[in-house]
Amino acid sequence: MSAQPAYKRILLKLSGEALMGELGFGISPPVTSFLANEIKAVVEAGVQVALVVGGGNIFRGEPLAKAGMDRITGDQMGMLATVINALALQDAIERSTGLQARVQSAIRINEVCEDFIRRKAVRHLEKGRVVVFAAGTGNPFFTTDSAAALRAIEIGADLMLKATKVDGIYTADPKKDPAATRYDTVTYDEALSRRLGVMDQTAMVLCRDNKMKLCVYDMDRPGALMKIVMGDRSFGTYVD
Ligand code: GTP
Repeated sequence: MSAQPAYKRILLKLSGEALMGELGFGISPPVTSFLANEIKAVVEAGVQVALVVGGGNIFRGEPLAKAGMDRITGDQMGMLATVINALALQDAIERSTGLQARVQSAIRINEVCEDFIRRKAVRHLEKGRVVVFAAGTGNPFFTTDSAAALRAIEIGADLMLKATKVDGIYTADPKKDPAATRYDTVTYDEALSRRLGVMDQTAMVLCRDNKMKLCVYDMDRPGALMKIVMGDRSFGTYVD
C-alpha cells in the first residue's frame, strides 16, 4: 500500500436508503455525519470527491406506479427526493467536517442549489469542495445508478464507488444462499450476462463502454473508503 492515494478523483454513489440508518424512513443525522467524516478523510488525503445520492428513503415510485400513478410524475417526485438528500449531505459535510460542499441539480431549482454545469463542478472539485449531484440525470426512466455512471464519466473520475450494505458482489444473494461467494473482480460483460444485480443495465453498459472502473463496497465499515482510495484491493469487488 502506497502513501499516496491510488485515485485522484472519485464518484461515490450512495443509495437514499443508506441515509436513513435504523429509522426506516428519512434522514438519520448520525449516518450523514458518519458519511461526512469518511469523506473528509479521503478529501484530506488529496482525493477529489463527488457524490450522487438516491431518494428511496423519502420516496419510491414503483408502488405508486403499480397503484396507477403516472410513471413520469413518480420519477419526477423521486428526483425531488434526491435533492432533499443532497441538501442534507451538503449540510452534514459543511457542519461536521468544515469542508465546503456544493449541490448541483440536474433540474433547475435555483433558489435551492446550483444547476449542474460540468465545468463548474470540476472547478469545485479542484478547489477541494465536495460536489453532490442531485436530481439524477434530470430525466424519467433513468436510475440514480445511471446518473452516477454518467456523472463519473463526465467529470473524468478515476473510480466510481457504489456504497452498499454488503462488502462486494456475490455469486448469489449471501442473505439467502450460504454457499454464495464474493468476487474480487468481475467484468461488466460477466456481471451483465450473469445478471449479478450490481446496477441496472443502462448504468453498467455506460460504465463498460466508457471504461469506468467500479468498486462495490460496504459503506458501514469505518475506514473502508479510505483503504480503497489508498489502493487496498481487499475491500469490495472491482468491476471493469
Ligand atoms: P467560486 O466561484 O470558486 O468562488 O465558487 P463558489 O461556489 O464559492 O462561488 P459562487 O459565487 O458561484 O457561489 C457562492 C455560493 O452561492 C455557494 O454556496 C454556491 O453554492 C451558491 N450558488 C451559486 N450558484 C447558485 C445558484 O444558482 N443557486 C443557488 N441556490 N445557490 C447558488
